Amino acid sequence: MSRTWFITGANRGLGRAFTVAALAAGDTVVATARDPQTMSDLATERLTVLPLDVRDRDQVFATVAKAFDVTGRVDVLVNNAGYGLVGALEELTETQIREQMDTNFYGALWVSQAALPNLRAQASGHIVQISTVGAVGSLPLFSMYNASKWALEGFSASLADELRPFGIKVTLAQLGGFDTDWAKSSMKFAEGIPAYSAVRESILGMRDYPDMSALPPAVEKTATEPASDPAAQDEWVEAAPEVAAAALLDLVDDPNPPLRKIIGPSAHQMVALALDARRQDYITDPEFTWPA
Ligand SMILES: NC(=O)c1ccc[n+]([C@@H]2O[C@H](COP(=O)([O-])OP(=O)(O)OC[C@H]3O[C@@H](n4cnc5c(N)ncnc54)[C@H](OP(=O)(O)O)[C@@H]3O)[C@@H](O)[C@H]2O)c1
Repeated sequence: MSRTWFITGANRGLGRAFTVAALAAGDTVVATARDPQTMSDLATERLTVLPLDVRDRDQVFATVAKAFDVTGRVDVLVNNAGYGLVGALEELTETQIREQMDTNFYGALWVSQAALPNLRAQASGHIVQISTVGAVGSLPLFSMYNASKWALEGFSASLADELRPFGIKVTLAQLGGFDTDWAKSSMKFAEGIPAYSAVRESILGMRDYPDMSALPPAVEKTATEPASDPAAQDEWVEAAPEVAAAALLDLVDDPNPPLRKIIGPSAHQMVALALDARRQDYITDPEFTWPA
C-alpha cells in the first residue's frame, strides 16, 4: 500500500534523501523547503513542494493544513529540518540560542501540533523526529544543539504515550554521522573567546572557529567534523544519506516501530557508551540500585 509523507527541510541532505526514497518506493510526498525552487529537479505528480520555514508557527499551521487538503491524509510525518550550532555557552548570543531552539525544537513541535487533529481524525500516522545520538550523550561546544534535540526527545517521548490510544506512532530516529551539509555549510559558529581554544582544539581540531564564508569546500569539511567525541571515544564516521533513507523506509514498514531507533555508523556504540556513562554516574550513589 502506498503512503503519504510530509517532510520538512526536504531540499538538501537527509530530507532530500528521504523524499527521493519515498518517491522511489511509489509513495506520495509533501516536501517542504524554505526555498521550493531548490526541489524543482524532483518534479513528479506524486510530489508536492510547499514553502516552509519551521520557525514560523503560523506558516507551519497553514502549510500542514494545505498538505492535508492536497493529499487527504499523512501517513508519515518527518520532522527533519535542523542544523548544528557550535560554541561554548558563554560565547553564544541570545539570538543564536533562540534560533537553534526555534528550528530544532519548536519547529518540530509546531509541525507535530498542527498535524495532530488530522492524524487523530484518520486514527493513524507515524511521526518520526529526526534526532541524534547527541540527544543521548553530549559534546562540549554543542550544548545548544544537544539541548534542542534533548528537548525534542522529551516532548516526543511523552507524546508517544499520549497518542498511542489514537493509533498514532512516534519514533525518535537517533542518527549517527551522515555526509550532508550539517557539518559543512549549514553549521553555525559562535564568536570564539580565547579561553576555549584548547576545548576547540580537542573537539574540532582547531584553536579558532572557522570562517565558513572564507573556506574552500574541502577545508570546510575537515574543519567542521568533530575531531573526537569524549562520550564515544570513537572515530567520527559518516555514511551516505541514502543509508539513513533506507533505514527510515524499514522503520515505517514496521507495524510496531520502537520509540527510539538508532541509525548510522558507530551510532549504536555511541548510545551504549553514553548510557553506560550515565549509569556509572548514578551508581556512585549508594541509594541507587539497578533493577535485577
Ligand atoms: N548529518 C548528520 O550527521 C546528522 C546526524 C544527526 C542528526 N542530524 C539531523 O538531521 C536533520 C537534517 O540535517 P542534514 O544532515 O540533512 O543537514 P543539511 O544537509 O544541512 O540539511 C538541513 C535541512 O534543514 C533545513 N532547515 C534548516 N533550518 C530550517 C528552517 N528554519 N526551516 C525549514 N528548514 C530548515 C535546511 O534548509 P535550507 O536549505 O533552507 O537551509 C535543509 O534542508 C537535522 O535535524 C540534523 O540535526 C544530522
